[in-house]
Amino acid sequence: MQTLISRATPTGVYVITAKSGDKINGMTAAWVTQISFRPALVGVAIAPQRYTYSLIKNSGIFCINALPEGAMELAKHFGFKSGRKVDKFENVPHTYAKNGSPVLKDAYAYLECKVENDFEVGDHTLFIGSILDGKELDTEAQPLIFRWDDFFGGH
Ligand SMILES: Cc1cc2nc3c(=O)[nH]c(=O)nc-3n(C[C@H](O)[C@H](O)[C@H](O)COP(=O)(O)O)c2cc1C
Repeated sequence: MQTLISRATPTGVYVITAKSGDKINGMTAAWVTQISFRPALVGVAIAPQRYTYSLIKNSGIFCINALPEGAMELAKHFGFKSGRKVDKFENVPHTYAKNGSPVLKDAYAYLECKVENDFEVGDHTLFIGSILDGKELDTEAQPLIFRWDDFFGGH
């Protein structure tokens, strides 16, 4: 079923970053989309058990880092371990957006967002964000397309 859904509703692969107090973290997410034109709003679906979820709940800010083709290893790095236990930014080059969210050097674009709403939806929470800051860092890059089997093959 997941293979079919990701094939029928294609998305990119992103690292959602957040900062709360002196803590920073990031996690891979595929469930990211624009939601409204005016005002411009984007949505990300994040499960409550993610460490990133608590940082976003605390700070009210998240940052979408769009990964380019070829960034598979980075997607796995941020997607298969929790920032509760390790500093995922150690040895990962990054800068910061205007409000302090980490921006990966390898991202081809980023959007730092203010949480306008959040909704519990099944086993995830949909955070709706307006845009605080953002930039296209590489105009030539092609997005990494999410395919369930590339990451979760066999499930
Ligand atoms: C390709 C890929 C896509 C993912 N998409 C999502 C997603 O959209 N929402 C989500 O809550 N978790 C998603 N995950 C799982 C989180 O990235 C993973 O649980 C991560 O370890 C959470 O890290 P944290 O505890 O440091 O926040 C995805 C993982 C991978 C590998």
